[in-house]
Amino acid sequence: MNRVYIKTYGCQMNERDSEAVAAMLRDRGYSIVDSEHHADIVLLNTCSVRDQAEQKAIGKAGHLTKNKRERSDYILGIMGCMAQNRGDELVDRIPDLDLVVGTQKFHQVPDHLDNIIQSRNGLGPRPTTIVDLDEEEGSQNTIRAHLNAERKVSAFVSIMQGCNMNCAYCIVPKTRGRERSRPIDSIVEEVHELAQAGTKEITLLGQIVNLYGRDCMRRENGKSPFVRLIESVHEVPGVERIRFTSPHPVGFRKDLIEAYRDLPKLCPYIHFPMQSGNNRVLKAMKRTYTIERYRHIVDQLREMVPDMFFSTDVIVGFPGETEDEFQDTVHHFKDIAFDMAFLFKYSIRTGTEAADMEDQIPQEEKEARLQVLLDTLEGQSLKRNQSMVGSIQEILVEGQARRGDNMFMGRTPGFRKVIFPGSDRLVGELVPLRITEASTSTLRGELLLNGVEPETNVSLPSIAV
Ligand code: 5AD
Ligand code: SF4
Repeated sequence: MNRVYIKTYGCQMNERDSEAVAAMLRDRGYSIVDSEHHADIVLLNTCSVRDQAEQKAIGKAGHLTKNKRERSDYILGIMGCMAQNRGDELVDRIPDLDLVVGTQKFHQVPDHLDNIIQSRNGLGPRPTTIVDLDEEEGSQNTIRAHLNAERKVSAFVSIMQGCNMNCAYCIVPKTRGRERSRPIDSIVEEVHELAQAGTKEITLLGQIVNLYGRDCMRRENGKSPFVRLIESVHEVPGVERIRFTSPHPVGFRKDLIEAYRDLPKLCPYIHFPMQSGNNRVLKAMKRTYTIERYRHIVDQLREMVPDMFFSTDVIVGFPGETEDEFQDTVHHFKDIAFDMAFLFKYSIRTGTEAADMEDQIPQEEKEARLQVLLDTLEGQSLKRNQSMVGSIQEILVEGQARRGDNMFMGRTPGFRKVIFPGSDRLVGELVPLRITEASTSTLRGELLLNGVEPETNVSLPSIAV
């Protein structure tokens, strides 16, 4: 009894929340297992950002209720964004649920599970579904446990929660609440603990990560709280690489662009959601920037870091998007030559402004537009990857590759995945590899023999100084 499986849907923020819940549960004596088949307790950490993600989790929960009928001790819970978004409606739909926990209450999961188990053992009130969806002041400070976690080469650190923007398509402000930042000291302490346990790469997470701290700190010497946070993380011994996700053009100023020049651990890769390449659509989306402003930031970054890698999010088929407007997106998508992208068909989210807009785009049209961008992306990713064949890249080795004996996986500073023959002792190390092959999503490489002079051979994505 007390073996817990946590299944995570959605973004890195959810992954980080699940890790924290796992760490808190381990600390309470629960064991975390990696398959639902070996679990007595299954928790689904859910996403609401698109309908498909919600349907997947609801389907899964429905399927798992059969275990409850077969085993009286089985516990099934739903946490996270869909729990927050749908709340009691979920219990009506899936009455067998034991637990529904919102986005500000993850830290209560161990108590709730303890209570459910005790009451089943006759030590407490008769169990009904526990629904815990309240807002909680300071909840941004609760997602920090890494206790007893496995050593991770690369770790996410949640620096803030919530979002104060009001993008017309987006459910996140409803599911995650207002923007709340953690204090710098607490974040840096967490990074120290991670680094001491062997973590080499830190990814700072927030809905609009570059607005970190504006709710409680000021700009100082022309530097935003976010840049000051990156500088503090940069000083932590053992941290070799720093990334963050996701920034927004709002508040993306010179200090952040200059950070790429001044802070060598800040990786030459950015996931920078564009959403659309057309100003009317951006305005209707309430994105608060023009495509010119977005491009200006991209240009400044490229000027600072000529080999920068760019990734983005795009939504096709936003209500009212015409073919010409979509073509503007295609134009900018090609012109910027994104190396990576997450491409989405607009999905109606009840309760958001765009859900009630006229001119919803037919599904087939959304699919056709998506396909255009997918094909474009494939060509662009492949071309960029092929341009790296023959170069020498510094790879942070994350672990064994999923397939292949003695094959290992790591990433370049530009976040390209590389597979290569290696050995366990390299995990967590930065090693130089020669890139030998490229496909759209993956590179292959070989370790360099000792004695290669990095000065003459290394062509790392250069950081202009
Ligand atoms: N439909 C489609 N995509 C969406 N996203 C957010 N809301 C929606 C929606 N209603 C996308 C945005 C965001 C990413 C995380 O998900 O591109 O950046
Ligand atoms: Fe959603 Fe916009 Fe906030 Fe991103 S910035 S979480 S898209 S409301």
